[in-house]
Amino acid sequence: MAAADGDVSTSEGKRSLSLGGHVGFDSLPDQLVGKSVTQGFSFNILCVGETGIGKSTLMNTLFNTTFENEEACHFQEDVHLRPRTYELQESNVQLKLTVVDTVGFGDQINKDESFKPIVDYIDTQFENYLQEELKIKRSLFNYHDTRIHVCLYFIAPTGHSLKSLDLVTMKKLDSKVNIVPIIAKADTISKNELHKFKIKIMSELVSNGVQIYHFPTDDDTITGINSSMNAHIPFAVVGSSEEVKVGNKTVRARLYPWGVVQVENENHCDFVRLREMMFRVNMEDLREQTHARHYELYRRCKLEEMGFKDTDPDSEPFSLQETYEAKRKEFLIDLQHKEEEMRQMFVNRVKETEAELKEKEKEVFQHVCG
Ligand code: GTP
Ligand code: MG
Repeated sequence: MAAADGDVSTSEGKRSLSLGGHVGFDSLPDQLVGKSVTQGFSFNILCVGETGIGKSTLMNTLFNTTFENEEACHFQEDVHLRPRTYELQESNVQLKLTVVDTVGFGDQINKDESFKPIVDYIDTQFENYLQEELKIKRSLFNYHDTRIHVCLYFIAPTGHSLKSLDLVTMKKLDSKVNIVPIIAKADTISKNELHKFKIKIMSELVSNGVQIYHFPTDDDTITGINSSMNAHIPFAVVGSSEEVKVGNKTVRARLYPWGVVQVENENHCDFVRLREMMFRVNMEDLREQTHARHYELYRRCKLEEMGFKDTDPDSEPFSLQETYEAKRKEFLIDLQHKEEEMRQMFVNRVKETEAELKEKEKEVFQHVCG
């Protein structure tokens, strides 16, 4: 049969047809946007950094607001995580933001276990999501997703090198969360020292095999900006709650006897770079990586641990149903064995008791007759 006008056959047996008029499915992306906007978004930030390194100040500066803040004391027996959720709105976009703070991080004399509460917190959020996914009656549509989308790792501005606590913690977290390392209080380090410090940090991360988050460069529209920004990692940031008048503008800054450090001045620090990269350009990628990479890994390990597999021992596809039936069969056989064992044990006990009774009977008989 002759192909219709505009009908192109493709190698996969699908045909490409041209349409004679407007159908309307070109509005699908707009429908998706509309639906997402109505539903709202969630974004969860984990701030890992020692007490007093500037976590709360940076969060306030990033969102241009004042979040609840309780200063941590330096005498915590162990590290604990403090999540706080806020409803924010920008234009018509609703954001459920959770900021999780590591309280007491770096304060213990023995820091061997400092990473543990952080790992446990991240895993618990994955587990909650998995449990929701595995429910018969799921409500993922309005589920409050608390999985951590980005971990801001605050590095002390020593100008020296990373601490072993930093390396150990980042290594433990790198397969679970998108790590964005930042140099905190970057106004306390000179320009030359900062340059060398950044190079040192990156080489230490590489030599210790720590995988940090890199802004994606596979999307043509953002490849340029992301690859140039990747070169600035780790971002050196300054936070401030003070507003200072510079010329005729009021800006967030830190005022010193010798001058003013402007937070949003790219010549002074990387604060704007961090904000642009984390929110304006790559927020969706951070959310996607969390789901497609980190959660996927957690889910896979967890299901394998539970005995689920995609393939049988001959590498043939194995469905969930088949796994379930195989597990059920295994369970029933196991149960049968246990029943058999118990029955045997019971028979043996009866035999033993019978023998004991007979022995006693004999003794009594001998006693009476003798
Ligand atoms: P805890 O929650 O108690 O662990 O502290 P934190 O990490 O939240 O630190 P916070 O933001 O409370 O800041 C502690 C001190 O550091 C405050 O006096 C801040 O003004 C100061 N600070 C915060 N950011 C910066 C910065 O970028 N540069 C300098 N020089 N000081 C800063
Ligand atoms: Mg704080």
